[in-house]
Amino acid sequence: MNYMAITVLWAVLLFFAAVANGVQTTKQPYRTAYHFQPPKNWMNDPNGPLYYKGVYHLFYQYNPYSAIWGNMTWGHSISHDLVNWIHLEHALNPTDPYELGGCYSGSVTVLPGGRPVIFYTGADDQNFQSQNLAFPKDPSDPYLKEWVKSPNNPVIAATDGDIDPSNFRDPTTAWQASDGTWQVLIGGKIDGRGIAFRYHSNDFVKWTRSEKPFHSSTRTGMWECPDFYPVSIDSKDGVENYLKKEDTKFVLKASFLDHDHYVLGFYKTETNEFEVDITDFMEDNTDWRYDYGSKFYASKTFFDGEKKRRILWAWILEANGRENDKKKGWSGLQSLPREVWLSTSGKQLIQWPIQEIESLRKGKVAIHAQELESGSFVEVGGITAAQADVEVSFELTNLEDAEEMEPSWNDPQLICAQKNAAEEGKFGPFGLRVLASNNSTEETVVFFRVFKNHTRHIVLMCNDLSRSSLSKVVDKTSFGAFVDIDPLQEKISLRTLIDHSIVESFGGEGKACITARVYPILAIDKEAKMFVFNKGNLSIKMSKLNAWSMKEAKIVPFVKRRKSGHD
Ligand SMILES: *[C@@H]1O[C@H](CO)[C@@H](O)[C@H](O)[C@H]1NC(C)=O
Ligand SMILES: *[C@@H]1O[C@H](CO)[C@@H](O)[C@H](O)[C@H]1NC(C)=O
Ligand SMILES: *[C@@H]1O[C@H](CO)[C@@H](O)[C@H](O)[C@H]1NC(C)=O
Ligand SMILES: *[C@@H]1O[C@H](CO)[C@@H](O)[C@H](O)[C@H]1NC(C)=O
Ligand SMILES: *[C@@H]1O[C@H](CO)[C@@H](O)[C@H](O)[C@H]1NC(C)=O
Repeated sequence: MNYMAITVLWAVLLFFAAVANGVQTTKQPYRTAYHFQPPKNWMNDPNGPLYYKGVYHLFYQYNPYSAIWGNMTWGHSISHDLVNWIHLEHALNPTDPYELGGCYSGSVTVLPGGRPVIFYTGADDQNFQSQNLAFPKDPSDPYLKEWVKSPNNPVIAATDGDIDPSNFRDPTTAWQASDGTWQVLIGGKIDGRGIAFRYHSNDFVKWTRSEKPFHSSTRTGMWECPDFYPVSIDSKDGVENYLKKEDTKFVLKASFLDHDHYVLGFYKTETNEFEVDITDFMEDNTDWRYDYGSKFYASKTFFDGEKKRRILWAWILEANGRENDKKKGWSGLQSLPREVWLSTSGKQLIQWPIQEIESLRKGKVAIHAQELESGSFVEVGGITAAQADVEVSFELTNLEDAEEMEPSWNDPQLICAQKNAAEEGKFGPFGLRVLASNNSTEETVVFFRVFKNHTRHIVLMCNDLSRSSLSKVVDKTSFGAFVDIDPLQEKISLRTLIDHSIVESFGGEGKACITARVYPILAIDKEAKMFVFNKGNLSIKMSKLNAWSMKEAKIVPFVKRRKSGHD
């Protein structure tokens, strides 16, 4: 069954890819080549990602009518490798009174026996948000093409006690507690306090709110798209079972203030309480975010039973204004799917693009290890620099010469803004200049600085966007993160994936991630260049650089085959 599904899917994909290649329209400079995008219009949150009968499914918030938010439906695409995709018809359209304002975000849960169910938010014409269910019409169909809404909808009404009905949405994947009852979290807000409400049910139909919220914070405002899942403390493998105890920790993620923040803790299965390691979100030095850019939002994970890993998807916003979105005719990408696991320190999560992405690499270019003197600039030539994947690592000696950190330097983004890529230091800036025009009038710079903080060394990773585009309307905020590595013991590594208007960077083997959207005017397509550089006044060693051009992923529409006879 599984084998059949994959084979058929692949054949269909290759066929329509061939068709699509023949009718390619004029290429826009900002459209991506290997990130997931629908052919046109507005897309936001990933919804209910799932591996089912040999097929990966991605649902997503989609407006079928325009490139601005509205009329939300669930778009639906399928894949056998999470790289190449076929678009199917929408899984959910707003048809019933409780969802006439839109079918908002939600998740998929696989019920015992293997039947999937979509748990999603419906907004009515007053934007009152209730929680609803939909089931596959034919669970034996690996493509899950048609979904039927439950006659019991809404299963959780918008008006439940003191809940603010306009801020009550995005159910998580549900799980079973040790007594067998179903548990689900829903994002919300009461009196300005961000909350993950917990509901429980015996039959998945009748749901009751638990007295205490699962977790909440006064600092955050509304929590959108909560996600809650186990991670192994001693392995990169993903965990599916919420009841495993000894070797498992839990992640609670909430989306607020433009970022996806998470806390780690333990889940007590007997009482359904979540014991957080730290007291609150955004504690000093423990404000863990999936991504330190500001365009990675509303993410969701799923357990991939085929490869025993947990995969993270997120919505990547545009940054060049609504008018440009309308002109382009589209808005929004999905991030590259990232594998996510707990670091060996147990303090934070590690993220890395799924291995399948590497199947798009071609034409490897390697630059041999060398000393980068102060002021060096080496071009990474021979690749399509606007559509590329690059890995580089650096080694530092004489670290006692590093600059002392000032006590007030605790906000990495602020340090990166003050000490941008043009500001010469001792160790740093060094790193990559990507999407750079001939004379670097335009360039997006991903770089490091290394400081001394008493007896420790601090590695700062920055993404300077101030010169990323000559356009005036583009958001060019710079980003920064501390990378938890010891440069005395470890190399400082960077992997950056460039795809025309997106730059996704992974520092310290996935310990700090920064995603940026950029809209160069000069440095597009063949005009784009890439350099490795050192502008610090101490020399450093580049121990390795490998770069690849990236092939285009096949992301194609599904064309209905006409049935013979009646239709
Ligand atoms: C929503 O759809 C209706 C047509 O059904 C259309 O008139 C309206 O402009 C759409 N709104 C948005 C924001 O796309
Ligand atoms: C090296 O950088 C530091 C800034 O940290 C500066 O004070 C110093 O003058 C620089 N030295 C040289 C030789 O440029
Ligand atoms: C950039 O430089 C290359 C080689 O020097 C040249 O072929 C190309 O036309 C230049 N592009 C622009 C936009 O000046
Ligand atoms: C860099 O090149 C662009 C066009 O390719 C040009 O407009 C600009 O003046 C150049 N800047 C410098 C400093 O040469
Ligand atoms: C630098 O060290 C001080 C004192 O130990 C500490 O409070 C501060 O958080 C450190 N800074 C960073 C960025 O780690």
